Amino acid sequence: MSYNLLKGKRGIIFGALNDMSIAWKVAEKAVEEGATITLSNTPVAVRMGDVSKLGEKLGAEIIPADATNVEDLEMVFSKSMEILGGKIDFVLHSIGMSPNVRKKRLYDDLDYDLLNKTLDISAVSFHKMIQAAKKLDAISEYGSIVALSYVAAQRTFFGYNDMADAKALLESIARSFGYIYGREHNVRINTISQSPTMTTAGSGVKGMDKLFDFANRMSPLGNASADECADYCIVMFSDLTRKVTMQNLFHDGGFSSMGMSLRAMAAYEKGLEEYMDENGKIIYG
Ligand SMILES: NC(=O)c1ccc[n+]([C@@H]2O[C@H](COP(=O)([O-])OP(=O)(O)OC[C@H]3O[C@@H](n4cnc5c(N)ncnc54)[C@H](O)[C@@H]3O)[C@@H](O)[C@H]2O)c1
Repeated sequence: MSYNLLKGKRGIIFGALNDMSIAWKVAEKAVEEGATITLSNTPVAVRMGDVSKLGEKLGAEIIPADATNVEDLEMVFSKSMEILGGKIDFVLHSIGMSPNVRKKRLYDDLDYDLLNKTLDISAVSFHKMIQAAKKLDAISEYGSIVALSYVAAQRTFFGYNDMADAKALLESIARSFGYIYGREHNVRINTISQSPTMTTAGSGVKGMDKLFDFANRMSPLGNASADECADYCIVMFSDLTRKVTMQNLFHDGGFSSMGMSLRAMAAYEKGLEEYMDENGKIIYG
C-alpha cells in the first residue's frame, strides 16, 4: 500500500546488488511512494549483479561509482541532479564490506591495509558522500541522508571483526556531519541500526545463521526484515521526520534493549542438555 510519502521527491540509492539487498527494497518502496531515483553501485557490481534489472523495473538510471572515490561521488550527485531535474531530497548509504573478513583474518591478526579498506568502504565513504553533496550544494533543505548500521558498533559480537569499528565510525560521522549540515542547510543525517538480515553482505558475517536465530529469539518483535527496514527508511526520508537528526535509530524488534529473553534462554538450556552425563552433570570438555 502506498501513502505517497515521497511524492515529488528525488533520491539516490547506493548499494542495491540483488533482490535480497536492503537497498533494493528501499529503491522499490521509494518509487512506490512517489519518488524518482537514481541507483549507484560499483562498476563491478553493476556488471555482475542484477541492478540493471532493478533500474529497468523502476525506470531509474544507474550510475556506476566506487563510493571510496570522491570524483565518482561528485559525478553521481551532479548526474543525479541533471537526470532527476533538481536537488536531491534523500540519500541511502547501504554499503559495507570487510576485506579482512573475506580473507578470514581474525580481529587479533588484522591486516592493516585491509583494515583501511574496510573503514574506507564501510564508513569513510559516508563522509565522502556527504562532503561531495555539500560542496555541490546538492541536497534540498530538510533533505534526509541515511546509512545502515549494526548494534556491534556499541556492543561486541562474536565474529563481527573490524566491521564493528567501521560501524562505530559510521555512526560518529552521522553525528559530526549532522551538526554541520543541519546548522547550515537543515539537512538531517541519521543511521538505522538494523537486525541481522539474510543478504550477500549479511552472509559474510561469521555464524550468521546462529546470530540470526539468537537475535530473533531475543527480540520481542522478532528480527526486522529487509522490507521492514525499507519502510523505516521511507519514513526517515519523508517530511514526517523533519526534526530527527544525528541519531542512531535501532530497527531491531527490541533486541538492543534486551538482556535475556525466555525464548533465548530456552535454547540455551536445551543446548546445555547435550553436554550432560547420565547424572545430569555438565561435562564442559
Ligand atoms: N545484512 C545484515 O545483517 C545487516 C545488518 C545491519 C546492517 N547492515 C548494513 O546494511 C548495508 C547493506 O548491506 P546488505 O545487507 O543489504 O548487503 P548487500 O551485499 O546487498 O549490500 C552491500 C553493498 O555494498 C556495495 N559496495 C561494496 N563496496 C562498495 C564500494 N566500494 N562502493 C560502492 N558500493 C560498494 C556492494 O556492491 C553491495 O551492493 C551495509 O552497510 C550493511 O553493513 C546489514
